[in-house]
Amino acid sequence: MKLIFRFSYVFFAILVWSCGFSTEKRRPQEIQESQEERAVKKVSEADIINKTKYLGDSISQKVGGVFMAKISEEYADGGFKAAAKFCSMNAYPLTDSLAKEYKVFLKRVSNKYRNPNNAPSEMEKGILEAYEYSIEQGDKLGSNVQFIRPGDTILYNNPIRIPSEFCLNCHGSQDQISEEVQAILKDEYPNDKATGYELGDLRGMWSLKFLKKEIVQSL
Ligand code: HEC
Repeated sequence: MKLIFRFSYVFFAILVWSCGFSTEKRRPQEIQESQEERAVKKVSEADIINKTKYLGDSISQKVGGVFMAKISEEYADGGFKAAAKFCSMNAYPLTDSLAKEYKVFLKRVSNKYRNPNNAPSEMEKGILEAYEYSIEQGDKLGSNVQFIRPGDTILYNNPIRIPSEFCLNCHGSQDQISEEVQAILKDEYPNDKATGYELGDLRGMWSLKFLKKEIVQSL
């Protein structure tokens, strides 16, 4: 009898514990606020980094996939001349919708940029150099998450290496880029630095900025 009583007591305690959230609304404002603060403190830096990495990986993969599909489609339709403008992120409504959904600032940067808007910040320069160094050492490259201090922004980066010959039609050596495309590039990007690449070279990296509070809220 006693044992049954003890069991039902434990069961009741679990029930109360697991339903804790439903009583939340009835608590006075102050207690609720201090609980929220504590909840925020319980989130470790490691949790924030892991979540940022997860989101950054999935967003950059998604956008990268759409990029490749679109640029290949345009190429099939009208050759590299037609495809050239689709290597710009501005050409994609997806970029805007993702930026809104995750409140993320999304771009690609490169030390040897074609569009000056894609020039790296000092911090990004350092990360690009670190990726270059890893390539020299023969190490595998991965995504990178860093807090931008002071402030509440988190920087996510993921390297972009030249994955196929296809890219070299617009980023390769002079004899790999047709005269027609060279003329467009000269016209649109008079200070183009983004040529002379070879397969596997570091072309640049995805650079996403997240707000720390958005990440914390999503945990
Ligand atoms: C049809 C021509 C063309 C092809 C093919 C092409 N690109 Fe580009 N790429 C461009 C143009 C034009 C820009 C400048 C876009 C802008 O104004 O933002 C650019 C910009 C970039 C940038 C941003 C940094 C910068 O230099 O401004 C990256 C990264 C990039 N390309 C990677 C690639 C990769 C990787 C491939 C192959 C999967 C590829 N591109 C294929 C034409 C091309």
